[in-house]
Amino acid sequence: MATVERAAGPDTLVKVEGLHKSFGKLHVLKGVDFEVRRGEVIVVIGPSGSGKSTLLRCLNFLEEPQKGVVTVGGVSVRCGSRGRAHKQAVHAVRLKCGMVFQDFNLFPHKSVTENVIEAPVLVRRLGKDAARGKALELLEKVGLSDRADYFPSQISGGQKQRVAIARALAMEPELMLFDEPTSALDPELIGEVLNVMKDLAQEGMTMIVVSHEMGFARDVADRVIFMDEGCFIEQGPPSEVFFRPKEERTQRFLRHILPEKEPEHAAELGIVAADGAPCEADAEAAEDGGRVERLPGSPTAPGPAGELPLEEPRGDD
Ligand SMILES: Nc1ncnc2c1ncn2[C@@H]1O[C@H](COP(=O)(O)OP(=O)(O)OP(=O)(O)O)[C@@H](O)[C@H]1O
Ligand SMILES: [Mg+2]
Repeated sequence: MATVERAAGPDTLVKVEGLHKSFGKLHVLKGVDFEVRRGEVIVVIGPSGSGKSTLLRCLNFLEEPQKGVVTVGGVSVRCGSRGRAHKQAVHAVRLKCGMVFQDFNLFPHKSVTENVIEAPVLVRRLGKDAARGKALELLEKVGLSDRADYFPSQISGGQKQRVAIARALAMEPELMLFDEPTSALDPELIGEVLNVMKDLAQEGMTMIVVSHEMGFARDVADRVIFMDEGCFIEQGPPSEVFFRPKEERTQRFLRHILPEKEPEHAAELGIVAADGAPCEADAEAAEDGGRVERLPGSPTAPGPAGELPLEEPRGDD
C-alpha cells in the first residue's frame, strides 16, 4: 500500500537560492540558501517571528517571494518573474508540495473522505471512484479507515491532523511541509500525529518540518536548521545542533529562550531553566523521547541553566 514513491539515490529534490521575502517594509527572509536531498527529513527550529512559516509558505508559493530561485523536483521558479511560464512553473511546484498546517484547515462541511478526495478530483481530475479508493487507502495508512464518513466536528484534533496528512498525501507530493503540526493539539494527541509522520519519514518521504517537538527532531531528523531573524544561523545533525551548538544565537535559543517559552520541549532534550539543574525525569524523558510535564515559569535572564553544558543525554557518540 505504498503511496509514497521512494526515489533512489541521494539526489537533490529542493534547491533554494538567495530567497528574499518582505511584507511591506518587514524583511522576513534575508537571502536563504539551502538544498534538500530526496528522502531527507529536516526540522526547522527558531524563535517566534524568525520566518519559519514564511519559509514553508514561500517554498510552495502560498506566499510569493520577491527574489531568489526555488527548484523542487526539477522545476525552477525565478521569484519576482511574471507571465504565463512563471505561473505554470509555480503551479508545477505547488503540485509537488503537500502542506500540513497547525490548525488542520479541513473543510468543515465535507466528510473526512470528501476532504481527502477534493484536490485529486478538482486539480488532478481524478475520477471520483478512483479518488475514493485511494482516499480509503490513505485513511487506513493514518489509522482512520473507520472515520471515513465522519465530519471534522465529529473527530478529535489528532484525528483531524491525520486527515490533513492523508489529504496532502492524496496529491502524491514529492515533498511534505509541516508547519507546527502538533502545536494546536492536546498533549495526549500529539503522539499519534508524530507516529504517522515518523512512518512517512521511514518510507522515504522528503519532509521539512517546523516544530519544537525536540524528541521527534532528535530521533527522526537528518538535519536540524536553526533560524533566526530570517536567516539560517546553524544547521547539522541533531546531535550537533542540539548538543554541541556552535553559534552563540543557537546556544542562547536552546539554553534560554526554549526552556523559558516551551519548557516541555526543552525538557525533551534534557534542558531545564527553572532551577538550572536537569532533574532525573528530564534526563529519562530525553532518553526515552518521552514528554515531561513541567511547572511553568523560568528565569528570563541567563541564569544557572546558562552555564549548563548541553550534553546529549543518550551519550551515543
Ligand atoms: N502575511 C503577512 N503579512 C505581514 N506580515 C507577516 C505575514 N506573515 C508573516 N508576517 C510577519 O513575518 C514575520 C515572520 O513570521 P513567521 O510567521 O514566518 O514566523 P515564525 O517563525 O513562523 O513564528 P512562529 O514561531 O510564531 O510561528 C513576523 O514578524 C510576522 O508578523
Ligand atoms: Mg510559524
